[in-house]
Amino acid sequence: MVNALRQILQATSSDAATLDSVAVQSSSPTQQGAFIDIKNVSHHFAQNHKNGAAESNANLPVLDSVSLQVQPGEFVALLGPSGCGKSTLLRLVAGLEPPSAGHITQEKQPIKQPDPSRIVVFQDPTLFPWRTVRDNVALGLQARKVPKEQYVRVDEALSLVGLTEFASSYPHQLSGGMAQRAALARALVNEPKLLILDEPLGKLDSLTRLTMQGELLKLWQKAGFSVLLVTHDVEEALFLANRVIVFSPRPARTVAELQVDLPYPRHRTDPRFVQLRQQLLRDLGLSDVT
Ligand SMILES: Nc1ncnc2c1ncn2[C@@H]1O[C@H](COP(=O)(O)OP(=O)(O)OP(=O)(O)O)[C@@H](O)[C@H]1O
Ligand SMILES: [Mg+2]
Repeated sequence: MVNALRQILQATSSDAATLDSVAVQSSSPTQQGAFIDIKNVSHHFAQNHKNGAAESNANLPVLDSVSLQVQPGEFVALLGPSGCGKSTLLRLVAGLEPPSAGHITQEKQPIKQPDPSRIVVFQDPTLFPWRTVRDNVALGLQARKVPKEQYVRVDEALSLVGLTEFASSYPHQLSGGMAQRAALARALVNEPKLLILDEPLGKLDSLTRLTMQGELLKLWQKAGFSVLLVTHDVEEALFLANRVIVFSPRPARTVAELQVDLPYPRHRTDPRFVQLRQQLLRDLGLSDVT
């Protein structure tokens, strides 16, 4: 396990962090990714309406018979209008709540609760302000009572995301990009088989975002975990993912699925990239605005 992170670290730290230098360095990732099977999943939330003295209960349908698989080591991006149900689907895959109908399995075993093999990274880094960066990253290991000898993984993960020098800093001393890197290190230290990313770069400025996209790609290529990414950014989805799924407005249904047939590293000016971008915008019903 420790060796796995060390291998990633050695390979990654020798690379330049620039966007276009991102390349598949190795075809033999150090970790096995999860196989996730989402089968006919529907979900609703109970809603309580008050109209004067009268109260009524209704169900808000959020997911409508969604089926999709994430193959081991695959990077799948989910696109869809705001409020359609993307984060809800991620929460179900994480095991934070059960679906109202349908099944979700990992390695053919039902997902019933959160598990360290599936780690969620949100838009907000949600670091504890009273803990140093190192102690924030070590949280998962502490919670699982992992022996102290294995805490070398914390330093490895920090090095991996370029935060070694800031290990003793507190969250308020970090930039937005650095805080999000710390959140990524906190996820990686658990050596996840599935990384669940809910707009993890959504609040970063556009330049930091481009750099972080490149870094995320490198981490994925080296480590071999599977990724389920929600993003609102069509280019981000095309730059990163093997496959892009487009959802309808709520309740989310799959309306399109696109295999991204471009080798890494991808270039945003590549004619095929531009063509796929147009296609996704059409699938999202946004072709008129470009
Ligand atoms: N815990 C909850 N209880 C009740 N309704 C909820 C709950 N969580 C989400 N919803 C509703 O479910 C719908 C889908 O929400 P969700 O957060 O999954 O959308 P989303 O696709 O992630 O949107 P965005 O792109 O804006 O993040 C929304 O209408 C939201 O109000
Ligand atoms: Mg969301």
